[in-house]
Amino acid sequence: MPVGIFEELGRHRIVPVVVLDDAGQAAPLASALVEGGLPVAEVTFRTAAAADAIRVIAARGDVLVGAGTVLTAEQVDAAVAAGAGYIVSPGLSRAVVERCAHHGVPALPGAVTATEVQAALELGCSTLKFFPAGTSGGPAAIRALAAPFGQVRFVPTGGVGAANLADYLSIPVVVAVGGSWMVPRAAIASGDWATIRDLTRAAVAAAAAAV
Ligand code: 3PG
Repeated sequence: MPVGIFEELGRHRIVPVVVLDDAGQAAPLASALVEGGLPVAEVTFRTAAAADAIRVIAARGDVLVGAGTVLTAEQVDAAVAAGAGYIVSPGLSRAVVERCAHHGVPALPGAVTATEVQAALELGCSTLKFFPAGTSGGPAAIRALAAPFGQVRFVPTGGVGAANLADYLSIPVVVAVGGSWMVPRAAIASGDWATIRDLTRAAVAAAAAAV
């Protein structure tokens, strides 16, 4: 399974988790992220616009775009057809992971317990979304899991923001953090791309300061 994309995520250190109600929002959103210095997006399959939005962003060629909230093999097919470079799930699904392997696209499934981590390893996944991070033990839980699972890398997401991203990024096994704090739905809805650009810039600066 290709893993280079996770190294790229690791270079950016932050994965914006995006919910778009309208694929027309994809182009200006992507521009705001790029201008903010973070050419990365996890576009969630929580809306019907997800596949078209991924298609628009992937066509730019300068954004590391993945699909988030992918729950079924059919959504994997749709995301890959749209150009998603990686597939994120909130939990661990054999069907999703196997469909990703079929397409040769990296899977980033969720896992927060030792049993889930072990199951993910059995499916060939060693970079995992730690979700929901804040209510699953936070940084202390990741440090505890890193002891028996030295080969596993985590992308904590859920409850991560400007105030606590350094707590996560300072853990050696944390590749990157994910979150929506730089892409608030209200700003997307009102087309306030300048706010998204500025929040993104601040997030990038905070991540740089945390390393
Ligand atoms: C996700 O799906 O990754 C989360 O909804 C992002 O969590 P956050 O909104 O707390 O950043």
